[in-house]
Amino acid sequence: MRRLLFAANWKMHVAPQQAREYLKLFAMHYRTRPDREVWFFPPAVSLEAVAHAIKDRTDARVGAQNIHWEPKGAFTGELSAPMASHAGARATLIGHSERRHLFGETDEHVGRKLMAALKADLTPVLCVGEKLEERDAGQTVAVVTQQLAAALAGLDGGTLGNVVIAYEPVWAIGTGRNASPQDAAQVHREIRAWLKARNAARTRVLYGGSVNLTNIAELLAEPELDGVLVGAASLDPEGWATLAQTGAA
Ligand code: PGA
Repeated sequence: MRRLLFAANWKMHVAPQQAREYLKLFAMHYRTRPDREVWFFPPAVSLEAVAHAIKDRTDARVGAQNIHWEPKGAFTGELSAPMASHAGARATLIGHSERRHLFGETDEHVGRKLMAALKADLTPVLCVGEKLEERDAGQTVAVVTQQLAAALAGLDGGTLGNVVIAYEPVWAIGTGRNASPQDAAQVHREIRAWLKARNAARTRVLYGGSVNLTNIAELLAEPELDGVLVGAASLDPEGWATLAQTGAA
């Protein structure tokens, strides 16, 4: 049984003091649930504040939004996986579409970062997803499986079990336009088949892209989805606590 995962991607929002206040409010509104986990991806400067605030929770984790593939060196402005880990991170996003499309990250960079994360014991949350023109051209599955292959080539089923995949169609991120639950589930089935062929049944596959309080229930009704990766709708602590408790017994 895979536990549901609710991952909050704060992007370039929530400084350390705001993070402390956020987590106080979140704790007031969110009760630990045995069937789910809540992970937070704050900006690097807030990693320690979040790690400290959730240190007594067994159902929560903090992670970096991005890492460099080298452990240290002359890379101005970058954050390494061991450093993120020292700051309390236990996971990291890898290859988020904003990194790929706004900052020019290639499949090769993504693959190197994924290996660096595993080496530092950070759970990689590998983001994959097609652009609108690729979807319209019927290339969704080809694009997504190519991104999986590029990042995960050579990993055995046991290691793949320690990776989380987030399927985020690029056209659905921050646009208010989400994939229908059926569309999302369809791609999830393809990802699941790809994983199964590599003996990785344990890997969790999340959906992301304009997930909010209005659409979360119907998304979670799809058994293919093991959780969600959420940007804008994770910025309000009370709303996020409500979203992350959707469908809980
Ligand atoms: P969004 O972002 O929920 O604001 O669309 C999702 C993401 O980028 O991970």
